[in-house]
Amino acid sequence: MPRPKLIAANWKMNKTISEAVAFASELRASLPSVPAHCDVVLIPAFFGVRPVVDALAGARAWVGAQDLYWEKSGAFTGEVSADMVKDAGAMYVLVGHSERRHGMGETDAVVAKKLAAAMGAGLTAILCVGETLSEREGGLEAHVVERQLAVAFTGVAPDDARASVIAYEPVWAIGTGRTASPGDAVAMHRAIRAWLQGRFGPVIAKAMRIQYGGSVNPANAADLLSRDEIDGLLVGGASLEVASFLGIAQAAGAAPAD
Ligand code: PGA
Repeated sequence: MPRPKLIAANWKMNKTISEAVAFASELRASLPSVPAHCDVVLIPAFFGVRPVVDALAGARAWVGAQDLYWEKSGAFTGEVSADMVKDAGAMYVLVGHSERRHGMGETDAVVAKKLAAAMGAGLTAILCVGETLSEREGGLEAHVVERQLAVAFTGVAPDDARASVIAYEPVWAIGTGRTASPGDAVAMHRAIRAWLQGRFGPVIAKAMRIQYGGSVNPANAADLLSRDEIDGLLVGGASLEVASFLGIAQAAGAAPAD
């Protein structure tokens, strides 16, 4: 069974509640044009999670949150727990996005705690990994990504890892207009799957989805999605307009490139 493609819209700190709901309602009307083997996920800011869940009720699309905190409750001003994310109706949650790692100083160890909290609450984590430009230029990209995976999955049992999604997002490609070539993306996706296989065994490694992210747009989506190794896309800037996000999701149905 091929893995269904997962197309996710990471809106970052964009869209008020009403803008998020308007997008979800407009997208909903066009969902029949999205290929059946493609799962669509909208990831608004926290305030938008519940309203977007309601706007998509009964539709073939799901909702995620952009972050979470690992403690269950308590004196953690400004933070949101996994149970709160779940209770708001989200099914997915981003963990370790590059803007959290590099902009907010999240370490690999922090990412591991967040991943454990997400899994503990029954959320599907989208674990983001990826190297910086200088790490790539130094030939360290596989080493960095494998380290991020190893720390994030410390102590995680294979059956618990199974539901997680990996998003390979080279830091130098995020929001820069510079996409990894499909060849480079495929090479890293193979390296990630090989790592998953070594850690969790072939059955679980085969079941787990690996998305690509970084300057994805309607023009480059079909080529990326035609690769067997690329199980979906995590889209930032190009997910803010319905037409553009829909164009990316529809590209999952395009004929594979040769
Ligand atoms: P981008 O962002 O598509 O704007 O490069 C991707 C991401 O940060 O997930």
